[in-house]
Amino acid sequence: MTQTKELVAINGHISKPEDAKISVFDRGFLFGDAIYEVTRSYGRILFELEAHVDRLFKSAEQIDMRLQMNKAELIGHIYSIYKKLDIDNVFMRIQISRGQGPIGMSGKIPQSVNEVIYMYPFVPIDSSYYTKGAKAFVTSRLRNSKRALDPNIKSGNYLNNVMAFIEGEKQDAFESFMVNDKNHITEGCTSNIFMVKNGVFITPPSDYDILQGITRKIIMKIAPRIGAKVTEEGFDLKTLQNADEVFLTSSTREIVPINNVNGRSWDVSRFSLTKKLTEAYKRYIEEYCESAQKTHPWK
Ligand SMILES: Cc1ncc(COP(=O)(O)O)c(C=O)c1O
Repeated sequence: MTQTKELVAINGHISKPEDAKISVFDRGFLFGDAIYEVTRSYGRILFELEAHVDRLFKSAEQIDMRLQMNKAELIGHIYSIYKKLDIDNVFMRIQISRGQGPIGMSGKIPQSVNEVIYMYPFVPIDSSYYTKGAKAFVTSRLRNSKRALDPNIKSGNYLNNVMAFIEGEKQDAFESFMVNDKNHITEGCTSNIFMVKNGVFITPPSDYDILQGITRKIIMKIAPRIGAKVTEEGFDLKTLQNADEVFLTSSTREIVPINNVNGRSWDVSRFSLTKKLTEAYKRYIEEYCESAQKTHPWK
């Protein structure tokens, strides 16, 4: 196959995105009965791929889905597909559905999982979001509770998030945040949230209805490198609006300062701790890539 810029691989079979097809009986399509992960690469290193694969396996375990490969095999498989592309910075999504079978809820379906890998050139968000900030909207929508559908299962069932996102989109928001039954903020549709108050980073607790974001975890690890403390603490919209700085985190967008939450605005050029943290995060990315380069299955 000639080197290409984008592809979709279905169960290892590579095709052009427009030719990639999956059955209408696929359980991901029918019920959102699927799990997924997203990351990006920096110079051909897929950032924190091991952590994403770990989380994928945890998601599979929680929904009783049996995967075909072990973690090391899956990492090798993803890189073997990346090898077909001649681009340094790629967006990568892996989505695994329970497979296809007769319409119905049974977990005992005749065919095995369908694994789809999407890879295409990484397109960053507009750079002005990093310098001027992004607008956010706290919706009244409850995040799925752990007992209903644990947000730690990164499932293909994102209707909860899609509906919150659409609500915020109508307010011209870049990201919408969902709440819990105490009206405490949980997380964004595809991000985690932090605020800064009196020099301390505060983020909703891990036992809230949130996805334990990989970027969130890195931030908790590196905050001490800039001499800052992080605490996990619940907060509502009013408390958030009283924060000194606010930002969201995700694997593809990294750290995005928030300049407005439900009408309360901030001048993000004054977000001194967010700026320091962003520099520390960039250094962390470099360190990760340097160390991955040495042990990397790519070669
Ligand atoms: C609901 C939700 N929360 C948080 C995140 C951020 O997670 P990560 O930092 O692992 O990308 C995502 C990412 O897609 C998400 O979908």
